Amino acid sequence: MAIKSAGRLFNNWMIRHLPSPVYHALGRGYFRFLHRHRDAEGKPPRHLSFVYGFDPGFDHLGEEFVDYFIRFCALQPDQRVLDIGCGIGRCAIPLTRFLSTKGEYRGFDIRRDGIEWCQKNIESRFPNFRFQCINLANPTYHPAGEELADQFSFPYEDAYFDLVFSKSVFTHLQSTIVERYLGETKRVLKPGGSCLHTFFLLTPAARSGLDAGTSQFDFRYPVPHGAAVSRSEPEKAIAFEETYVREVYSQAGLEIIEPIHYGCWSGAGKGLSGQDIVIARKLS
Ligand SMILES: C[S@@+](CC[C@H](N)C(=O)[O-])C[C@H]1O[C@@H](n2cnc3c(N)ncnc32)[C@H](O)[C@@H]1O
Repeated sequence: MAIKSAGRLFNNWMIRHLPSPVYHALGRGYFRFLHRHRDAEGKPPRHLSFVYGFDPGFDHLGEEFVDYFIRFCALQPDQRVLDIGCGIGRCAIPLTRFLSTKGEYRGFDIRRDGIEWCQKNIESRFPNFRFQCINLANPTYHPAGEELADQFSFPYEDAYFDLVFSKSVFTHLQSTIVERYLGETKRVLKPGGSCLHTFFLLTPAARSGLDAGTSQFDFRYPVPHGAAVSRSEPEKAIAFEETYVREVYSQAGLEIIEPIHYGCWSGAGKGLSGQDIVIARKLS
């Protein structure tokens, strides 16, 4: 227990103080060296999974989210799905076992290493799964990116998808980009289609967790409509006011399906998952 808490404090310290390229390089080096014999076939190497969010078994979180898509969004095997910030295919891999050959999966991300792994290991075996790398800037994940995400139009036609989702992506975006991405979510969804996005939402309960020091992340630096864990690099992790997020959904024309499924990140309660999950529907 004490070792776990010390580990969390040390990790929080590193996240707050080290620039992401240094933090990622240290983590990648550690996993490359110490865990090089533990990489499993068909799964991304552990040094990559460190950068995209570590999950000891890798499969657990992806399977959990596919379960939410089916339970809360009524996803069917022959439907069309968009994964924003798809990373190393955490949700795509379990979706290969759920979607039929009539179904379609599209994923895009701004990091080339993850997209190349997905193209080589998933797209090559499942032609109805396609992955695309877009050269957008994000100080944490792709500082050299050349295009601005708050002006980016998703490369898909209007009303194409039954489900649009992002897992642990809006938690790394500034508010102007979240606004743009929710507008694009609405555009590419079919009428009646669903979206599922995860957030860190600042609610009274989450704030009490932050004040009590039980939160997994220490959101202490103000950003527009919320707070971040780092002043110099807010994209490491950003939390938004729940009232603001509700307003953006409403302005985008997306109706939130109540209740919001709060996560356990703040330590304030049990929570369905780690992050807060917002599910919404496009009305027309
Ligand atoms: C914590 S990782 C999560 C990856 C994946 N969704 C998962 O759950 O494994 C955050 C992801 O967001 C991606 N990302 C950051 N900014 C982005 C943007 N503007 N558009 C799309 N993806 C972005 C990163 O490259 C990274 O893959």
